[in-house]
Amino acid sequence: MTIQIPQPGGEVLDVDRKSYWGEYFTYFPALARYIPLGEYARRVRPRACVIGASDGKFALPLLRAGWEVVAVETDELFLHGGEIDLIDGHHEIVGLYDRLASEGFEDRCTVVKSDYMTLPADGDFQLVMGSGLWSQPPNRVHPLESLMTHAMDMVAPRGIFFADYLIGLNDEERECGYYPETPEMGKILTRPGWELFENADLGIYGESHLGYEEWHYHRYAAAIVHRKPLPTPAT
Ligand SMILES: C[S@@+](CC[C@H](N)C(=O)[O-])C[C@H]1O[C@@H](n2cnc3c(N)ncnc32)[C@H](O)[C@@H]1O
Repeated sequence: MTIQIPQPGGEVLDVDRKSYWGEYFTYFPALARYIPLGEYARRVRPRACVIGASDGKFALPLLRAGWEVVAVETDELFLHGGEIDLIDGHHEIVGLYDRLASEGFEDRCTVVKSDYMTLPADGDFQLVMGSGLWSQPPNRVHPLESLMTHAMDMVAPRGIFFADYLIGLNDEERECGYYPETPEMGKILTRPGWELFENADLGIYGESHLGYEEWHYHRYAAAIVHRKPLPTPAT
């Protein structure tokens, strides 16, 4: 389930509904309040890094809105496509490369097949975002704070960091350290030089999907953080 938030110019930011993940909850449309989507984006071409880009749920709408995108993903299935049989039926996944080619976006999207924690964090992007990945087992080799800090350090001054994250619903989730309550996540994200624009508990949703097919519930939350401009050096 997603929300739609119109911009003053009438622009709406929605996910790519044809993505395998298209109907799963995200607060992504709320970014429309903070990032350029109209003529300015088409002319200036701001740069976004989508961490865990999968088959393009977020990358494609940003590209359509004029952005350049670096799509970071480790999963071959979502990059190259394939067929899978799950409890809820047969799925044909169209991979990110084919989706980019079908809309002619190859020249504006760089696909990086890596763990984002191995990439430089040089403050290069006007937007860095990730959704539903911070608690995934391969990321648990890092503390949650390191996962967030590395992603945030990829954001340029005046840029935005967006994270959909999950809040613990049971003891196991609450104790593992990867399902923080909003105040705990707020503490991680409130760093010197940053301003927390939004950090909200968004409610409980039921779902079943690749990697966790049994019907289960997640308590979703999201944060939007602004990297302030660097202080002007004294003359
Ligand atoms: C659960 S899926 C979520 C898909 C979609 N982003 C959404 O929210 O609906 C998370 C994706 O992030 C990718 N991912 C997880 N950790 C990553 C990492 N450290 N670096 C790059 N990709 C990662 C996974 O391979 C997976 O495709």
